[in-house]
Amino acid sequence: MATLLLPNLEFGLSCYALLVLGALLFLMYQLVKMLKYQNQESRSDIPPGSRGLPFIGETLQFMAAINSSKGFYDFVRIRRLRYGNCFRTNIFGETHVFVSRTESAKAILNNDSGMFTKRYIKSIAELVGHQSLLCASQQHHKLIRSRLSNLFSSNSLSLFVKQFDELVVENLRSWEHKTTVVVLDEALKARKRIMSIIEKEISERRRDLGGYHEDFLERLLLEDDKGCYDATNRSTLSDAEIQDNILTMIIAGQDTTASAITWMVKYLDENPEVFHILRNEQFQLIRKTSSESFLTLEDLNDMPYSSKVVKESLRMASVVPWFPRLALHNCEIEGFKIKKGWNVNIDAREVHLDATLYKDPNKFNPSRFEDESKPYSFLAFGMGGRTCLGINMAKTMMLVFLHRLITTYRWKVIDPDSRIEKWAMFSRLKSGCPVIVTPITYA
Ligand code: HEM
Repeated sequence: MATLLLPNLEFGLSCYALLVLGALLFLMYQLVKMLKYQNQESRSDIPPGSRGLPFIGETLQFMAAINSSKGFYDFVRIRRLRYGNCFRTNIFGETHVFVSRTESAKAILNNDSGMFTKRYIKSIAELVGHQSLLCASQQHHKLIRSRLSNLFSSNSLSLFVKQFDELVVENLRSWEHKTTVVVLDEALKARKRIMSIIEKEISERRRDLGGYHEDFLERLLLEDDKGCYDATNRSTLSDAEIQDNILTMIIAGQDTTASAITWMVKYLDENPEVFHILRNEQFQLIRKTSSESFLTLEDLNDMPYSSKVVKESLRMASVVPWFPRLALHNCEIEGFKIKKGWNVNIDAREVHLDATLYKDPNKFNPSRFEDESKPYSFLAFGMGGRTCLGINMAKTMMLVFLHRLITTYRWKVIDPDSRIEKWAMFSRLKSGCPVIVTPITYA
């Protein structure tokens, strides 16, 4: 028996050794190929950075950052410190380049040469729908954006100021009976309510297309009088396009504004000298306006310091920290070669904290905006053809909220925790910024 087994065993062992040797040789070959490729890459002036592990790149490190209370931006911050202003990484099987110079931001966001297109990760495209302007091709985007812009005209905005103010007043009244209020929750509730009003309006209008209404949905349903057509010579939006884009507005506008308001309250709490100037401006305004009336667009234009507080909060918070684009052709950025198909992300947060653009960038100082800002140094709402559509609506909401909060309550943040919410799409406070409030009594 033993004599029969031994040769088999020997044969098995040598097969096994050959297999191991083969595998080792294959691994060595792959390693040499990888190193050779990396050397070639560094020679050909591509942005510095690490490709990470074969196949998965630096995906694990990116996921770890999303799952940490420092927030997903930390992934970018660490690499920027290591590799400089323009670096590359590999996440989810794709090459990502991050840039943070204002000249690069200008070239990419203006996109005069047609080198770039907007690019969101697949899950966002699936969330908002394929007819959303976030995912649309250039010509299609032009059509949808031109139709949606009507919602943000100055007429619509004037109406919106009153509507939103009514909501905030009503909502703040309910704070009286609470000991602690979580600003983020309240801000999200306010946005949700305004969006549900819009949705209700839309469904009612759909049932009653006979009568003409001078409003956003009517404009979306009707032919465009400005003559903006897509590639198929069509100027109206389909039902699917209308639905996807209403959802887009809700998603693009809800968390962003709520997070920005929350950060603003935190910064004000931490900077009493700023709060003092702001409070004076708001109380001056209350003396001018009737206590019974709701705010108007003109009132908001009469808040110069408050507007700077809003702007400074947006700069410091960088709620949307980077803007993704896709390179459509091989090109060059900051002296580095960028290949067609690479993702190029404009690192707005780094621009906002660049000491060459902003003196003492980590100091909350709204007065810095008294001087003219350098071009492309303020990117909270993006720039160029894809600038935030809701820019004025967002600023309006922040100002209305500020006015009502300051003139209705004395308040104090009770949890100074600066940790970031894990897995959040935008940079927002984990604590939600809880405050205690005491009503201000007017004689
Ligand atoms: C403080 C609040 C907000 C911030 C910080 C913000 C920020 C931004 C940024 C940075 C972009 C451009 C991203 C890029 O270029 O890739 C953007 C796009 C957009 N935002 Fe906002 N946003 C805010 C509020 C809103 C609101 C209230 C709405 C609408 C109700 C809205 C609707 C949109 C839409 C539709 C786009 C896409 C525009 C396009 O691709 O043509 N945003 N937003």
